[in-house]
Amino acid sequence: MAGIYLHIPFCKQACHYCDFHFSTSPRGREDLLDGMLMEMKRRASELQGQVVNTIYFGGGTPSLLSYDELMRFFEEMYSLFDVDPQAEITMEANPDDLTKAYLKLVKQSPINRLSVGVQSFREEDLLSMNRAHNKEQALSCIPNAADMGFENISIDLIFGWPKLELSDWIKNVEIALALPITHLSCYGLTVESKTALSWQIVKGLIEVPDDEKAAQQYEYLLTEAERLGFPWYEISNFSKPGFESKHNRAYWEGIPYMGLGPSAHSYDGEKRSWNVKSNGAYVAALQRGEREYEVEILTHKAKFHEFILTSLRMRKGISLSALRTAYGDGITGQLLEAAQPFVEKRWLIRDANQLRLSQDGLLFADKITSELFVI
Ligand SMILES: C[S@@+](CC[C@H](N)C(=O)[O-])C[C@H]1O[C@@H](n2cnc3c(N)ncnc32)[C@H](O)[C@@H]1O
Ligand code: SF4
Repeated sequence: MAGIYLHIPFCKQACHYCDFHFSTSPRGREDLLDGMLMEMKRRASELQGQVVNTIYFGGGTPSLLSYDELMRFFEEMYSLFDVDPQAEITMEANPDDLTKAYLKLVKQSPINRLSVGVQSFREEDLLSMNRAHNKEQALSCIPNAADMGFENISIDLIFGWPKLELSDWIKNVEIALALPITHLSCYGLTVESKTALSWQIVKGLIEVPDDEKAAQQYEYLLTEAERLGFPWYEISNFSKPGFESKHNRAYWEGIPYMGLGPSAHSYDGEKRSWNVKSNGAYVAALQRGEREYEVEILTHKAKFHEFILTSLRMRKGISLSALRTAYGDGITGQLLEAAQPFVEKRWLIRDANQLRLSQDGLLFADKITSELFVI
């Protein structure tokens, strides 16, 4: 089993909170896409003998790709890799791109899952975020996608946005969960340095996000999503049963994936690598017959930290038998000892083979995780 991630590094405009890698200039777009196809061909042997069961177009904004551009990727992928006929094939899409005409074209491609970056259904949030879409588009794109035959649709929302009150968030969640979706991702706002948002906060142009409010919004979400049939399965992810994202699950469960495109990450079970975060440098290296990237061979300690961090984010938590097999009885004992104060506070739940976060514990996941880094 393996996954392929394709990073499409172009956006119409820069959202004020975002520090993903993208360019708002379409310059060099053809060379960049050619470069990604070159990278795919050159690295194809890395996935030899593996069945590709997830493909994910992320970004940036993959919904800026034309049908022909998308199909060039698919033709190459189907000729180079052993793609499972049942593969989950996701495209991140922005509401303003999802016109009926575009949805019809995407439906004719192998894409069978859409992850739509709605962020908020409130016009004032969309404006202050500098999103390219408006409330109307946020509301209409999901029913339109469902009418076009998409049966697996996810929405991204952001909570903790300045000026987003609990009552507004309740409306956002209600609207989202009443739409024909199978999956919901909700992220607490992170103020990333060097973004327009962080500059606006420093200048006092926008209020400082309030952690208390964000925590209240998250707590409401956990309870309401569960009540409406979308239980959380990972800290930021909720789905109808059976619609958990296979691609993201693979990241959290340490399954290998190959990331193509500038800034894309790859993992082969032993090492991680990151492509250069610059469209120009990425293309130039490929045109020289090289790949510009950094690599980290994971140490025993790094693997342990990843195992704890990713397992704890999942609702099923840390498998104690898997922990014992990989790290031995000594480390397992030390971890259980470090976990005990949190078990007593009921932030962690321990049953026969699992150590997992309770709903209260979800709010303190980072603190708990760092205390469990016993190596
Ligand atoms: C790869 S990003 C962007 C995907 C797509 N281009 C879009 O804008 O919808 C995936 C998601 O991360 C979330 N996100 C990005 N930056 C964030 C931040 N600073 N704080 C919280 N969530 C963020 C947004 O919900 C976004 O939809
Ligand atoms: S949030 Fe999405 S659309 Fe906005 S700048 Fe980031 S990647 Fe581009």
